[in-house]
Amino acid sequence: MTKEIIKFEHVAKKYSKNTIIPDLSFSIDEGEFITVLGSSGSGKTTTLKMINGLEKPTSGEVIVNNQNLKNCNIVEVHRHIGYVVQSIGLFPHMTIAQNIAVTPKLLGWSQEKIDQRAIDLLNLVGLNDEEYSNRYPAQLSGGQQQRVGVARALSTNPPIMLFDEPFSALDAITRQNLQKKLKRIHERLQDKTFFFVTHDINEALFLGNRVMVMNQGRIEQFATPSEVVNHPASSYGKELIGTVRENQALWEELK
Ligand SMILES: Nc1ncnc2c1ncn2[C@@H]1O[C@H](COP(=O)(O)OP(=O)(O)O)[C@@H](O)[C@H]1O
Ligand SMILES: [Mg+2]
Repeated sequence: MTKEIIKFEHVAKKYSKNTIIPDLSFSIDEGEFITVLGSSGSGKTTTLKMINGLEKPTSGEVIVNNQNLKNCNIVEVHRHIGYVVQSIGLFPHMTIAQNIAVTPKLLGWSQEKIDQRAIDLLNLVGLNDEEYSNRYPAQLSGGQQQRVGVARALSTNPPIMLFDEPFSALDAITRQNLQKKLKRIHERLQDKTFFFVTHDINEALFLGNRVMVMNQGRIEQFATPSEVVNHPASSYGKELIGTVRENQALWEELK
């Protein structure tokens, strides 16, 4: 049976007098890989931050795991929701293993359990633990640092993972490698819900089992990648798909 894990009910968000999100309702089932596709300023980050309580709705309800966030301790919420952003923010004076161990340490795990967790997670994200555990962040490439960011967010095994354009600053090849890796990680870790914000249409279509197309604080379409491609529901959606088709035409021309 499917279980609803994230639900927005008529959520509105204003910053002073500016309405960023007029009225947002959607629901996500446990185990889904949702991608949120929208141009800059469309309200993606604001929506994501309302899931882990970093932003509060001006009105409406955000329900995570059957609990209304209004009634939750936000520190507690953060423990159950992993968060990966573009600027990874690893602690420069800590080793990779120590970076991954930050939250488990706060939670008072035994050193043995922490060490094992770091080894498992490094291997999960494709970094050899013997080679990387004792390095410092500056000794890793951007893509490798981003892998550590994913490992760190997974350290306490949260049921929900939020990603805010985590691969945007990486070169095309590294980026594609990490997309493939992340998709495999999601497949392997059963029942984890991923909510991944991006402005890259190919990334959104490749990763998501459903794509939320956002424009000006509204959901214009929330459907499978093939539905979004074959039946774009808005002029903005059509325009996005048009950019891909134009690229394809260019490729054909250059052949
Ligand atoms: N803390 C804030 N104060 C005022 N305006 C904000 C704040 N955060 C975001 N905004 C505005 O809200 C809109 C949506 O922002 P955001 O959710 O970051 O969009 P996206 O992530 O899709 O680029 C933008 O116009 C942005 O300027
Ligand atoms: Mg953003």
